[in-house]
Amino acid sequence: MASENIYILGIESSCDDTAAAVMCNGKILSNVVASQKIHEEYGGVVPELASRAHQQNIVPVVHQALKQAGVAKEQLHAIAFTRGPGLMGSLLVGTSFAKSLAYGLNIPLIDVNHMQGHILAHFIEEDGFKKPPFPFLAMTISGGHTQIVKVINHFDMEVIGETIDDAVGEAYDKSGKILGLGYPAGPEIDRRAQLGNPKAFTFSKPKVKGLDFSFSGLKTAILYFIQREVKKNPDFISENLNDICASIQYTIIGILIDKLKLATKQTGISHIAIGGGVSANSGIRKALKDGESKFGWTTYIPKFEFTTDNAAMIAIVGHLKYLNNDFADADVMASARLKI
Ligand code: KG4
Ligand code: ZN
Repeated sequence: MASENIYILGIESSCDDTAAAVMCNGKILSNVVASQKIHEEYGGVVPELASRAHQQNIVPVVHQALKQAGVAKEQLHAIAFTRGPGLMGSLLVGTSFAKSLAYGLNIPLIDVNHMQGHILAHFIEEDGFKKPPFPFLAMTISGGHTQIVKVINHFDMEVIGETIDDAVGEAYDKSGKILGLGYPAGPEIDRRAQLGNPKAFTFSKPKVKGLDFSFSGLKTAILYFIQREVKKNPDFISENLNDICASIQYTIIGILIDKLKLATKQTGISHIAIGGGVSANSGIRKALKDGESKFGWTTYIPKFEFTTDNAAMIAIVGHLKYLNNDFADADVMASARLKI
């Protein structure tokens, strides 16, 4: 039988990005993301507003993804959508849209775990990016997640560490709020960190056993430190902003690298793949590179557009599941706390 082109539409709506992507045989033809600006003025994602914005965006975003790919909806082989984890009101929009479209086109529906999407984004066919070999460790770091996963193969994964409170991106964003920076503050803290002294101020690292993380104590420590210093000098923040950012970044990266060191030691696996919005961070990128020479790691970071929330990563999971004939039932439901 002649090998056939497999076209998959991916749909992602788990948090505040409405996204759709079209994939052919593991290669991305289009990757459209509508980010919701509305949350900036609230300093964080407001679930009810996110759900409403998804409803407004989903039809135009899917339409644009098909148009950019030059693929008619009748050519699609399956529709992959994010089932969870995420905000229920947001997930419901993508789930019900994907269901009705698959039903209308009479093609299979494929449910995708968002966290597996972040990990399998490394398997999108993309020139210049190498795929990690099995087994590898995947660290997903973003505004919503902080997780280390042992990946045995595409569909056999084990979470070996995760945050017990805030995600690492939240630690950046909440620190930024204390410093009066805009939301999300991660990129700004990163930019300033590169201009400051990372040893100017010391914040103690949380003592969490094993491979789990905690970031809420760090946020409180930063808050008390700033309050104390501002009492002594009202201009403390503006006079020391770059050094404060560098010190925060140094602490956060130290926490992540300590856990990776422990994870590689415990598992004996030295291939490390990272994903999520925080993988754009210059500090983590440098620390991973250093880890290659210092600890013998091999590290993998996907193309930037596949690290933040996107539908290309949902489409690649869809593609892999399609090859396995692993389809969802018509009565599949969104699941806010879906586990890997
Ligand atoms: O993956 P993402 O776009 O969305 C989700 O949270 O799911 O990640 C956004 C998070 C925000 O918390 C943002 O502050 C953080 O990633 N971020 C960064 C950087 N770029 C984005 N944090 C530190 N350094 C960066 N360069
Ligand atoms: Zn995500």
